[in-house]
Amino acid sequence: VKIGVLISGGGTNLQSIIDNVKLGNINGEIGIVISNKKDAYGLNRAKMAGIETLYIDRKNFSNDEEFNMEIIKELKKRNIDLVVLAGYLKVLSKDFICEFRGRVMNIHPSLIPSFCGKGCFGERVHQMVLEYGVKVTGATVHFVDEGTDTGPIILQKTVFIDQNDTVSTLKEKVLCIEHEILVEAVKLYCEGKLSLQGRKVIID
Ligand code: GRF
Repeated sequence: VKIGVLISGGGTNLQSIIDNVKLGNINGEIGIVISNKKDAYGLNRAKMAGIETLYIDRKNFSNDEEFNMEIIKELKKRNIDLVVLAGYLKVLSKDFICEFRGRVMNIHPSLIPSFCGKGCFGERVHQMVLEYGVKVTGATVHFVDEGTDTGPIILQKTVFIDQNDTVSTLKEKVLCIEHEILVEAVKLYCEGKLSLQGRKVIID
């Protein structure tokens, strides 16, 4: 399975995939890492692992559709089978979803459908979790559909919130399980063990 990873930031989720491909735990290869941010540290992680990288500047395009078309073109050029959004902070266009339906995964730092949707990403998620006062949070890997964080859920894992937790301590705890479940979801996909029944993901 050829994997394309889209990033916008530090790339710790990307790094966990790189490491597990190298360990032979994921039966696939990362064909390209694309970032919409020039200074995303994840680009360095890819380069250090000898993986081709691309920075695609949204400002070079007149609208989101054309920007997405460029990404689709680069992914298809490299026969990418699975697209992984690993800390990628742009919404995908309809064309993108059509082109890669059922083949785009996203990692979100909460237990969807809680604390997700437009504007709810990154540290904002943990802020809302702490403000709400829930006792448990976690992370979700899901297939991407036309909505924001609404696609079929593949895996979830929880973390308990301690009353002394801050945004940064909570972010660290959640990031650890993001890495675990994202690697597991990519591994299962590469082994052909994921299938869809309606909006439910079945793991064989
Ligand atoms: C983190 O907030 C993570 O929860 C979300 O994207 C952000 C950056 O992750 N998925 P990464 O370190 O760039 O993978």
